[in-house]
Amino acid sequence: MSNEIDKELLLDHEYDGIQEYDNPLPNWWLFTFYIMIVFTPIYIYHYHYGSGLSLTEELNADMAKIQAVAVKKEAKLQAVSNEELLALMGDNAALAVGKTMYAKNCVACHGAVGEGGIGPNLTDKYWIHGGSLKDIMVVIQNGALDKGMPEWKNILKPNELQAVTAYVGTLMGTDPDKAKAPQGELVE
Ligand code: HEC
Repeated sequence: MSNEIDKELLLDHEYDGIQEYDNPLPNWWLFTFYIMIVFTPIYIYHYHYGSGLSLTEELNADMAKIQAVAVKKEAKLQAVSNEELLALMGDNAALAVGKTMYAKNCVACHGAVGEGGIGPNLTDKYWIHGGSLKDIMVVIQNGALDKGMPEWKNILKPNELQAVTAYVGTLMGTDPDKAKAPQGELVE
């Protein structure tokens, strides 16, 4: 019996004594094949004629989104006034955030209490980039890259930038030990 079936399935060619069965294709293979036949035209239509985005279009859309976020963030930062920053100097929650940011990011160059080191003394009345809180925030945001002050606008969030600015404001006039000699212009 099994020999008869074998014969039916056997293809009638023979190479060097080797014969071949005409086995049906496995179902998993056929299934994948039919799915592909259905899927391919949809895929081609969607990406070549329909609304599907090409890689370049996807990249451009993402870059536009990133750009929009950056513009919004910049606008938010620009909108903060000197008065608002001065008001933050009386906001204990903001100052706590500012202190943490300062300890984490600024101590290495400006000293534990703002006395200066690699960077200028932040406790005196002399400022290279202007001594209003708004001026201070601008230099913290954009840095002075050619002089070794990093820019922080992409590292700190807007509220953290404002908070650390207010915190730097509270360091002014504290006259710590080992303060670095004044740099810049006297701002009264
Ligand atoms: C890698 C060292 C470094 C780090 C870290 C650093 N600074 Fe500076 N900072 C400098 C240097 C150097 C300058 C002087 C720039 C110049 O000469 O124009 C400066 C300048 C400044 C000024 C302007 C001072 C002035 O006289 O006008 C402020 C304000 C300031 N930094 C705040 C900060 C704050 C806040 C942080 C932390 C978020 C920070 N810096 C982190 C090196 C650093």
